[in-house]
Order: sequence, then C-alpha cells, then structure tokens
Amino acid sequence: MRLATFYSVAAAVWATQVVAQGAAPDPFEQWQKPEAGHVRGPCPFLNTFANHGFLPRSGKYITQQNLADGLFNSVHFDANISAFLFDFAIRTNPQPNSTWFSLDHLSRHNVLEHDASLSRVDAFLGHADIFNQKAFDETRSHFKDVVNVESGTAAIIARMKSCKATNPTYSLSELGEAFILGETAAYISILGDAQSITVDKKRVEFLFQNERLPTQLGWKRPSTPFTTDLLLGNLDKVRAEYAKQLNSTSKGKRSGASLRLVHGSAITFA
Ligand code: HEM
Ligand SMILES: *[C@@H]1O[C@H](CO)[C@@H](O)[C@H](O)[C@H]1NC(C)=O
Ligand SMILES: *[C@@H]1O[C@H](CO)[C@@H](O)[C@H](O)[C@H]1NC(C)=O
Ligand SMILES: *[C@@H]1O[C@H](CO)[C@@H](O)[C@H](O)[C@H]1NC(C)=O
Repeated sequence: MRLATFYSVAAAVWATQVVAQGAAPDPFEQWQKPEAGHVRGPCPFLNTFANHGFLPRSGKYITQQNLADGLFNSVHFDANISAFLFDFAIRTNPQPNSTWFSLDHLSRHNVLEHDASLSRVDAFLGHADIFNQKAFDETRSHFKDVVNVESGTAAIIARMKSCKATNPTYSLSELGEAFILGETAAYISILGDAQSITVDKKRVEFLFQNERLPTQLGWKRPSTPFTTDLLLGNLDKVRAEYAKQLNSTSKGKRSGASLRLVHGSAITFA
C-alpha cells in the first residue's frame, strides 16, 4: 500500500469513529428499510418511527419508555398521550399483562386493527401489515392539495363503502370507528397544522407510501407538544364532520350512542 493511500484510509476510519463516538447522527436522516427478522404493523407512523430508529428498528419489545421517548423525539408527543396510546397497544400482545408490544401485534384483527383502513385491505382479503397502493389510491383520490377535516372524512367514508361492498365479513366496532376518526385527526395534526387541522397532501402521500418522515418536503418536528387533549379535541371535530357527511344527526340514527374516548384509557358510551 502506498503511504498516501494508507493515510487516506486511516483518516477515513478515524473520521467514521469520531462520528460514531461524537455528535450523534441526525435520526431524521437515519432512515433504513426493515431488515429480515424485523417486524412492522398496520400503523404507518409507528412503522416510520422504527424505520428512523426512533423506536427499536426490529419493531419488537416496545416498552412504555421506548414509546414515550420515540414519540417525543420524533413528533413531540407528551408523556401523557404516549401512556394513553401504550395502554391500547399492550392489549394487542397475546400475552396477558405484558409490559411491551411488537408492531405486528397491532395487526391482530378487531383488537385495535379494523376494517376500512385508508392504506390496507381488510383482514378478510389480506395482511394489515402491508401497505396497499390500490386502497391508498382510493383514499387520496378524495384529497385536494390540502387535506382537511372535510376531505379526510370523505376519504374514510369512501373506504367504508367500498370495503363493505367487497368484504362479506365487513364489520366495524365502536372502538374501531373511534380509531378511524382518531387516526385521521392524528395524521393531519402531526404532518400538518394541529390548530387549523390541515396538511399538505404531498406529505401524507410521502409518509404512507415510503414509511418515512417527509423532511425532504419541508416537514419538521412540531415545536409545540402534542397532547391527549389536542388529539381528542381534533377527533371530536372529525367525528362531527363524519356525522354530518353520513347525515346521521338529521336522521337521529346514532343519537345518544356516540363513543367517547376518556382519559386513562377507559372506553365509555356517552
Ligand atoms: C404519531 C403518532 C401516530 C399517528 C399519527 C398514527 C396514525 C395512524 C394512521 C393514519 C393509521 C391508519 C392507517 C390506515 O388506515 O391505513 C394508523 C393505524 C393504526 N395505528 Fe397509528 N398512529 C400513531 C401512533 C400510534 C400508536 C402509539 C399506536 C398504539 C396503539 C397506534 C396504533 C395503530 C393501529 C393499531 C392502527 C391500525 C388500524 C387499522 O386497522 O387501520 N398508532 N395510525
Ligand atoms: C393523562 O392526564 C389526565 C389528566 O389530565 C389523567 O387523568 C390521565 O390519567 C392521564 N393518562 C395517562 C395514561 O397518564
Ligand atoms: C393480569 O393482571 C390481573 C390484574 O392484576 C390479574 O388479575 C390476572 O391474574 C393477571 N393475569 C395473568 C395471566 O398474569
Ligand atoms: C347525505 O345527504 C346528502 C344530501 O341529501 C346526500 O347527497 C349524501 O349522499 C348523503 N350522504 C350519505 C352518506 O348518505
């Protein structure tokens, strides 16, 4: 080996070690595809966080602390909302009283996973772990350049109708319905603006299709914390629009039976 080559190789090795020991690499830029043996699930966001290393890249053995740290560092969730969602997540671990869950547990049908997803086929037709372009194309056909409560809700209702028409086992529990509305409130709030409840369609498409945070489209970690109150408040706005588009208020079909998600993870019927 020529001396100059030796020095340049040595310098490269040294530089790599300095990076490894010194300033931590920016996790927003450390996106990697899942490897063999890694698991992913039906939630495009949790999959994304695992792909960036905000959650264990394996997708496995996620503790309350892992979830709280991961959601804080990636999207500025406060500890309360992470605890709130963790309580739902551990119910999907087939082992009772577990202290962790893996992303693929979330796919167990009708625990949390439900029919009429925005980007997955119904469990009757395929795996909820896997993104489905056709399903998502139907969803995004309802979006204009900016997705808001109205178009986000229209997409939900369209998916419900076409799933009902193609899946003879189609069903949706009250919890499933609350999740659908909450998921739409969440993706708009996290990728866009939680106050006006609007988001650039391109960011939504980018995240769902790549399971990657849309930093290259100008998205940044929100500067204000996201809380349980913000989620439930925005969920209520989606719910009101949903009732309006289904004409359920005028028909009085669901009066007195609307679901409320209550702090502390209790589910009650108001
Ligand atoms: C930033 C935080 C989160 C956001 C923005 C988010 C958003 C979403 C969205 C938009 C979907 C719908 C995907 C589709 O319909 O194709 C979804 C699905 C799901 N998410 Fe999350 N999520 C987040 C965190 C979580 C957490 C912490 C849990 C743990 C309980 C969770 C559990 C689920 C489950 C079980 C599904 C599957 C529902 C289905 O059947 O479609 N998510 N999430
Ligand atoms: C979140 O905070 C509320 C009070 O604002 C509390 O009642 C609730 O138990 C908390 N939930 C969790 C899961 O920590
Ligand atoms: C889980 O915890 C509950 C409440 O603490 C307890 O009654 C139950 O026996 C536990 N189940 C198992 C399988 O450990
Ligand atoms: C609600 O009513 C409007 C106006 O009558 C109608 O165009 C629309 O299709 C209805 N929506 C549903 C979901 O039935």
